[in-house]
Amino acid sequence: MVLRRTIPATASVVKKMNGDRLHSPAAAKNVSHITKLVCSVSPKNGAALEIASGTGQHIISLAAAIPNLTWQPSDIDDARLNSIVSWSYEKQLPNLLPPIKLDVTDEGWSVLCPDQDFVLMVNLLHLVSESEAKVIIGGISQSLMPGGRCVIYGPFMRDGSLTSDGDKLFHQSLIEADPDIGYKDDTWMLDLFQGHNLKTVKIANMPANNLAFIIEKKHPKRS
Ligand SMILES: C[S@@+](CC[C@H](N)C(=O)[O-])C[C@H]1O[C@@H](n2cnc3c(N)ncnc32)[C@H](O)[C@@H]1O
Repeated sequence: MVLRRTIPATASVVKKMNGDRLHSPAAAKNVSHITKLVCSVSPKNGAALEIASGTGQHIISLAAAIPNLTWQPSDIDDARLNSIVSWSYEKQLPNLLPPIKLDVTDEGWSVLCPDQDFVLMVNLLHLVSESEAKVIIGGISQSLMPGGRCVIYGPFMRDGSLTSDGDKLFHQSLIEADPDIGYKDDTWMLDLFQGHNLKTVKIANMPANNLAFIIEKKHPKRS
């Protein structure tokens, strides 16, 4: 299990609150946009997994907004897992499961969370290498039911280019910390989805120059 410790502090800023609870200003900023997007593209019931849930701010909003989906939070980091428990305890949402420790760069991680109708992953891919990103997307495909959907949100290059000054600075800070990580290209992502039996339903432009890929697991071909 590899927990990347070399990423710059600016890649995941959190403030300590009461007890174990953490607050991410970035998550507070994008939570309404992500909730609105997910409400418009996710199934209304079934099982939903969030990869790299972080503080837990996104999943408590989503579990409240889509009450018939059962939400499974996850993260690699114990402090984040404790924060998710703390937010969940306050909200007491019946469709929010206790968080699980999950390293999605471990080959075979999807056996721990099969048969998902929906998967959400926000702001992780720029923090891993290309080979780890391949493991993550392969695992998402394996964890989804046929017809199941996934939203992948974050900062990406557009056709090989960094398209804002903020993105150039952030990507540079990432590769200075670890040359293997950094922004992935949107066209590279589309090829990756195709290679893992995932159909791209839509690419949404999101605030702060982020993208959201809405993808769907293909049904097996009938013979
Ligand atoms: C930038 S934060 C994003 C958190 C949350 N999704 C959000 O947008 O607020 C990245 C998160 O990825 C988690 N993480 C890093 N490497 C991971 C891995 N290999 N597997 C699962 N989670 C990981 C970190 O612990 C952290 O919570």
